[in-house]
Amino acid sequence: MVRFDAKLADQAYELRELVAAETGQISAESGRLRSLAVTSGKGGVGKSSISANLALALGRLGKRVALLDADLGLANLDLLLGVTSRYNLAHVIRGERRLEEVFVEVDEGVLIVPGGVGMADIADLDPRRQLALIESLSVLDSMADVLIVDTGAGLHRTVVSFCLATDSVLLLTTPEPAAVRDCYGMLKVLAFSGGTGIDVNLVVNMASSDEEAASVASRVQMAAAQFLGISVPYAGYVLRDEAVRRAAETSRPFLIYQPGCAASQCVRWIASRLAKAGPSGELPPKAVVGRGVKGFLFRLAKRLTRSR
Ligand SMILES: Nc1ncnc2c1ncn2[C@@H]1O[C@H](COP(=O)(O)OP(=O)(O)OP(=O)(O)O)[C@@H](O)[C@H]1O
Ligand SMILES: [Mg+2]
Repeated sequence: MVRFDAKLADQAYELRELVAAETGQISAESGRLRSLAVTSGKGGVGKSSISANLALALGRLGKRVALLDADLGLANLDLLLGVTSRYNLAHVIRGERRLEEVFVEVDEGVLIVPGGVGMADIADLDPRRQLALIESLSVLDSMADVLIVDTGAGLHRTVVSFCLATDSVLLLTTPEPAAVRDCYGMLKVLAFSGGTGIDVNLVVNMASSDEEAASVASRVQMAAAQFLGISVPYAGYVLRDEAVRRAAETSRPFLIYQPGCAASQCVRWIASRLAKAGPSGELPPKAVVGRGVKGFLFRLAKRLTRSR
């Protein structure tokens, strides 16, 4: 197995960026894409449901969205959105499929990029192939304004790598005590490995009321401020809603299955706030270097390799 040479790739990447900038190959819009990882400490708290519906809601607000299914275990975004993806990035990495054959359009302006196991394989590629893949995936920079990354659950190193590689993180919890405890555990890992500059935003899902969601959020925020020294903005809540489960059973996003349901209204609210913040809004400091898909993948490759 060829090991990724981070130093070599670093130099190659920086050189290419420099050349591209000097020769005017980077347009004003290039690299403006904002990347957002949706994650949680505990599994089953609604990451995939919210990623999928948030992508649609942003799409309907006029954003072009790429949704990366980065759950290395159970990639299921295609099922939730009622589309079939026959190929994933692993096929591209193995040279069996072209990138265009992997993307699936789910709604106007919204496409899924099935990552699957292919995402972890990035670390195993030799630097030249790795850069070639990053380069080819960078077409997303001109195709999308927002990249939403649906991660797996928990403190697994690859999940943490995804979160540290994106511009921002949406950390999900439910009011359930075990989910809140694991949410704090995830925050702790993110704060320790990403530093205090990390941009983590909290979403409380399956809340029975806005009061309950606000009380869960303030407990997490207080613990984060007191013990970790970080501030965790509250990005909103999604009410517990039977329509979510019913929509999943029919393989349709709840935003389309029942646009007026409580969960749809909550997700649209979160989306409208996010849409105002990006992609030209303020980005956290770490995103200043290497914005866009290219920057995200480059940071991801480095982190995945380092954590081996
Ligand atoms: N707001 C909600 N109200 C009711 N049910 C919900 C809500 N959000 C999610 N669910 C249900 O919770 C279950 C888990 O949701 P989902 O698969 O999106 O979670 P996940 O965090 O992606 O799980 P995993 O950790 O396995 O990837 C599903 O059955 C989904 O329909
Ligand atoms: Mg999931």
